[in-house]
Amino acid sequence: MSIRLFVFDAYGTLFDVAAAARQAAAEPGAEAWAGRWMALAGHWRRKQLEYTWIRAAAGSHADFWQVTQDGLDWALEAEAIDDPQLRQRLLNLYHELPAFPEVPEVLRTLKEQGFTLAILSNGSPPMLQAAVASAGLGPFLDAVLSVEEVGVFKPDPAVYAMVGARFGTAPAGTGFVSSNGWDACAAAAFGFHSIWVNRESAPMDRLHGRPAHQLSDLRALPDLAAGLGDTDRRSDPPA
Ligand code: LAC
Repeated sequence: MSIRLFVFDAYGTLFDVAAAARQAAAEPGAEAWAGRWMALAGHWRRKQLEYTWIRAAAGSHADFWQVTQDGLDWALEAEAIDDPQLRQRLLNLYHELPAFPEVPEVLRTLKEQGFTLAILSNGSPPMLQAAVASAGLGPFLDAVLSVEEVGVFKPDPAVYAMVGARFGTAPAGTGFVSSNGWDACAAAAFGFHSIWVNRESAPMDRLHGRPAHQLSDLRALPDLAAGLGDTDRRSDPPA
């Protein structure tokens, strides 16, 4: 089936989630903890994701902004950092996360190729609006879909079903792009044409679906997309 729509995960795929801690660590006054920014960023992201999975499984939803704060509070305590000003600074930086360097050009190229582009993210609408605006990605996106519409986090199938409800597309006609292995696997199980952006050279997750493609970052996506978008044309009988 030919693909005309690409849907992107936001955090870790388009936006560099480690950037908040990395940037705060470079600012004056951070000397006491700056050497541990990677540990802080790792704890923060891991707890944030764990809390989304647990809340989805337990039927106890709170929005991603709450979960992001809860994950940060766990991470700060784990690193024995008690600094309310730093906490606030990190949260402010989360609203202006930079896009990975290749992202604007890749999205621009995909738009020029005629694809419809959207975000499908756990992020709450205000978080996503702020990050999209701050990274200047708004002009390339046809929709920014937040799980808040269905009140449950990925990988609940209700989240992936939002795409068909919005665009009227079949899952097999949707390219789904995520750097989160578990998200790429679950999206494949849902029926999307799933592309895993394996930025950290991680092993494939052992889960209930397998992405159709694996990239190390987004740079190769326009070439891959050109082939996927042409599938129907190439299989047409000669005129
Ligand atoms: C998102 C998280 C999973 O953007 O990164 O949905």
